[in-house]
Amino acid sequence: CGIVGIIGKDNATDILVQGLEKLEYRGYDSAGIFVTGKEQEEYLVKSLGRIADLQNKISPEVQGTVGIGHTRWATHGKPSERNAHPHTSSNRQFILVHNGVIENFEEIKQEFLQTKSLEGETDTEIAVHLIEHFAETGLSTKEAFKKALTVINGSYAFALIDKNDPDTIYVAKNKSPLLIGLGEDFNVICSDAMAMLTETNHFVEIADGEMVIVKADKIVIEDQKGNLVYRESYEAQLDLSDIEKGTYPYYMLKEIDDQPAVMRRIVQEYTNTLGETIIDEKIIETITASDRIYIVACGTSYNAGWVGKALLEKMTNIPVEVHLSSEFGYNMPLLSEKPFFIFLSQSGETADSRQVLVQVNEQGFSSLTLTNVVGSTLSREADYTLLLHAGPEIAVASTKAYTAQIAVLAVLAKAVGDNKRNQFSLDFDIAHELSVIAAVIETIIDEKMLISQLVEEYLTTTRNAFYIGRGVDYYVSMEASLKLKEISYIQAEGFAAGELKHGTIALVEEGTPVFGIITDKKTAAHTRGNLKEVESRGAHNFVIALASLSKETDQFIIPDVHPLLTPLVSVVPTQLIAYFATLQRGYDVDKPRNLAKSVTVE
Ligand code: G6P
Repeated sequence: CGIVGIIGKDNATDILVQGLEKLEYRGYDSAGIFVTGKEQEEYLVKSLGRIADLQNKISPEVQGTVGIGHTRWATHGKPSERNAHPHTSSNRQFILVHNGVIENFEEIKQEFLQTKSLEGETDTEIAVHLIEHFAETGLSTKEAFKKALTVINGSYAFALIDKNDPDTIYVAKNKSPLLIGLGEDFNVICSDAMAMLTETNHFVEIADGEMVIVKADKIVIEDQKGNLVYRESYEAQLDLSDIEKGTYPYYMLKEIDDQPAVMRRIVQEYTNTLGETIIDEKIIETITASDRIYIVACGTSYNAGWVGKALLEKMTNIPVEVHLSSEFGYNMPLLSEKPFFIFLSQSGETADSRQVLVQVNEQGFSSLTLTNVVGSTLSREADYTLLLHAGPEIAVASTKAYTAQIAVLAVLAKAVGDNKRNQFSLDFDIAHELSVIAAVIETIIDEKMLISQLVEEYLTTTRNAFYIGRGVDYYVSMEASLKLKEISYIQAEGFAAGELKHGTIALVEEGTPVFGIITDKKTAAHTRGNLKEVESRGAHNFVIALASLSKETDQFIIPDVHPLLTPLVSVVPTQLIAYFATLQRGYDVDKPRNLAKSVTVE
């Protein structure tokens, strides 16, 4: 979900709506705003659906100088106008928006709110009624809010308005991201700096457990004990043009096209003119001293982690395990004596991953976050950070962050490998190889119309599809199938080519599309054998192969690149396949149903 707030500007409504549009990637099943001001009317407008739907409901008189807004990704309570934020207390005095999940909402209801009638099904409603309950006991709004925070367990970013005092927005956070943006005679709040860049680029972070009183001309931060906290603001290094899609029909296509530039930027940021890697020595030493690397991530980042394992093991000789954050946190395997943790997270905010990092920190292990977002939670809380330098990724389906993660992991593997005098690593000219990758991605992108035609033939009406490969080609198959299913809704599975025959091949029918990825010399013949097996059972095969391993009958041929880096190129046609399949099936490429880009609840 995404939160915005503004205090001290005449056009609060416009600023809130524009901010919500920028945050739409965080959830888009419903949205709402509350706007008011001194001696002004109050307006609460909510809508099911997207920000555009909300906008259609906002009439011209909805004006004010203070307001809060929210775009939702449903957790408690189905998407509906009633469950949309902001939520109000029974007497309508308090108006609240919330991100996160309140874990003890049932207990709160039982203990404090028996006499209140609650309309919706959300945990946020419980919070706003709890604040009202404490205010009814005679506490000031600030004290009632603080008291409520001591009762609430779970994750939250809150923004609260007391309509009787429209000079203040009360803000608090725990585990969910929230920032204050500073302006001249106005201040803003937002879940992501991106939302308020048109207003300011000076932001102040809020730490977990803090409460902030935001007024037009000042902000006051208090810690849990009520002590005042002074914190410097920082300047967001974001450019508005980075977050606009320009002439592209969809962000996803722009982000696929960004990949060659991202590869070149990674070379620039992480290597010097001698071709040596530039990585903090402390990171290299700590990894070199570790006896096992644990990569922890979700979704696309998890898939990138598998390619990272191949790279790190080959170049550093340190064993690597790859884990899903949501599993690892609660079913931790037996750890080695000197583990090193790498968190992969495009957003740096994913709650599942953060929950693991909290445990890792409690146990005193070393950690590194690879993220695209400067100052994100996972970046702040890990010992070290390496930035992806991919530029903002807005489409829900991740593309350039996947390839950037792999490229930065390759740089890291080389840095540690060189430190360990690993010959393979010493011989690996990463700056050169990544530059080759950039050029090859360009040639693949130039072939996009060919992919569009092939997709028409293979994917327009199918119910399901498979991607198969071995080794890194299997890892890319997992990512390729995730991409396809998350946006085109074709049920797709990425499978180890050799394993297919041990059960899953039963799903292959006449015409089932099977995409084979072939970039590894030692397994190419075997994967081709597996493709024959499915073909004899009616499958419609589509082969993506490296030029030196290709056959004339293959559907898509990729120029050769360094054997360790093939995932950086073989994934690109699969991104385009997902993109065109989605277009042809008539769905919204950037905002697939049920998903959100940054999931800040577990
Ligand atoms: C969400 C997104 C996925 C993403 C995953 C992990 O579920 O929809 O596209 O891969 O979160 O996100 P992260 O920001 O941690 O890489």
